[in-house]
Amino acid sequence: MGFERVASVSELPDGGRLSIEVDETPALLIRLGEFFYAIEDLCTHDGQPLTDGPLVGQEIKCPRHGARFDLSTGKAMCMPATRGVRTFAVEIRDSEIFVSDEPAKAPAKAAVTDQPVTGETTNETSAPAAAPEETAAQTALAEAAAQDEYLTALREVIDPELMVNIVDLGLIYGVTALDGGQVEVEMTLTSPACPAGPQIVHQARMALERLESVETATIKLTMSPPWTPDRMTDEARDHLGIF
Ligand code: FES
Repeated sequence: MGFERVASVSELPDGGRLSIEVDETPALLIRLGEFFYAIEDLCTHDGQPLTDGPLVGQEIKCPRHGARFDLSTGKAMCMPATRGVRTFAVEIRDSEIFVSDEPAKAPAKAAVTDQPVTGETTNETSAPAAAPEETAAQTALAEAAAQDEYLTALREVIDPELMVNIVDLGLIYGVTALDGGQVEVEMTLTSPACPAGPQIVHQARMALERLESVETATIKLTMSPPWTPDRMTDEARDHLGIF
């Protein structure tokens, strides 16, 4: 379909979002600072619109079960989603926002003359943008690759009762890389009284600490929200004979 105008830069304040359609697909246009992202507005886990999902850094969180998607790459960053959402290329031309159905290669960046756009709060002139577009995209790709590595390692941990790995079971709520090779995992168990809990937690920590990039892994157990079977991937459901 090529690039089509969807809005003016001034219509979208920092942190704002706009529901649009790209080639008959519901999409979300999101602004973070000087950068604009367009992604498919449908969680790949169970079809929930992401429209009202909170933004967490450069990610959007599904309001239903909490899967997160990278705005730059569309990649699924945590369970229960395993497939990413589509991204769409965005261009800024003369303070107008154009979106195409081609995948995004990098977020579009508003010209400095478009700042500020929030109206009442006229920020003093902010410092010129430091990072070029490529840097933001490269950082997003590096973070996505790291998440892949963590989830692959955690897939080695099998729940001994269900014989399904803890990632596909939907026990992992999030993996966060901190400074100095530290990684923090937020995860749950299928029930608070799961007898295999201590073993699973230990194995999850060891699986991550075997990675070269990880010095220390900390596992934080939570029962909120509690695990439910709809957090499992289709593969896990097939394995357990749940349809
Ligand atoms: S529908 Fe989005 S995480 Fe389940």
